[in-house]
Amino acid sequence: MTRFFDTYRRFYQTTGTPLEPNRFQQRWRVIIEENKGLFQGARVLDIASHDGRWSFAALKAGAAYVEGVEARAELVRRALANFTHYGIARSQYNFVCQDAVKYLANARLAEFDVVLNLGFFYHTLKHLEILENMARTKAKSFIIDTAVNMSNDAVITIVLEDVNSLLAAIDHLNSDTSTVPSGRISRLALKWMLDYVGYDCAEMDWHRLVNDFVECEEYEKRMRSTFIATRVRADVDRAQPTTSFRMSRWWGLLRRADDRGRVCREGLRAETRVDPG
Ligand SMILES: C[S@@+](CC[C@H](N)C(=O)[O-])C[C@H]1O[C@@H](n2cnc3c(N)ncnc32)[C@H](O)[C@@H]1O
Repeated sequence: MTRFFDTYRRFYQTTGTPLEPNRFQQRWRVIIEENKGLFQGARVLDIASHDGRWSFAALKAGAAYVEGVEARAELVRRALANFTHYGIARSQYNFVCQDAVKYLANARLAEFDVVLNLGFFYHTLKHLEILENMARTKAKSFIIDTAVNMSNDAVITIVLEDVNSLLAAIDHLNSDTSTVPSGRISRLALKWMLDYVGYDCAEMDWHRLVNDFVECEEYEKRMRSTFIATRVRADVDRAQPTTSFRMSRWWGLLRRADDRGRVCREGLRAETRVDPG
């Protein structure tokens, strides 16, 4: 059997993780191959796109366009080099170097058909804010692949992550600290949050789909899994961007200004500018 990434071996080098070809393959099988129908002709947003491997796999599965958001510039460079190496047309992709939380809070966030949130949801504490803004893309589906807290209750456990790892959370306050608190949410917490933003949640059955769990032990123990969220309500479309503190301050100002019949749109534009790649 040829594994997907055996044909595109550069991703084995650019990942920055130990080489785990079976893990790549099984994740590809559950995340991409089993959901192939979702990708046909789709515009796909890949949050925390790393070296571009899942954006690339989405295109190969039939997506029309992919946009990756990745906070680490070195990884964006690797993604661009990978896409150039494999001859992907420039019109089919874009990579943005930015904190995904800020990217998603942009008032002019684009629409997508599918949002990939892979290997990222345990590197943040802004779960609900991220899901609210993912919903603003009007995507029909989210694919969320994440480590989970094993509690049956709706909880989030907080750990300190080393920001110096290429795989970990970023120091989003640029506070010069070496650790940042991140949260691991339980299945029930994820379900409640998805429900709130208008999405049904189903869990992929790793044990039915995969028979070789080498390099995939967390999936085997159900400490990590893949969830498909399907849009069932559209009311969140009309919501304001869910924002960081600075943005909220501007919305507050805007609302107060509106009350007085004046609108300070200039200030709002300045706050919501997307960082250049
Ligand atoms: C464990 S890797 C997952 C990579 C890939 N999505 C996957 O599932 O294989 C986590 C990625 O998230 C990126 N990352 C962490 N915090 C981020 C943030 N706030 N905004 C954008 N990217 C972030 C890291 O740089 C890293 O590339």
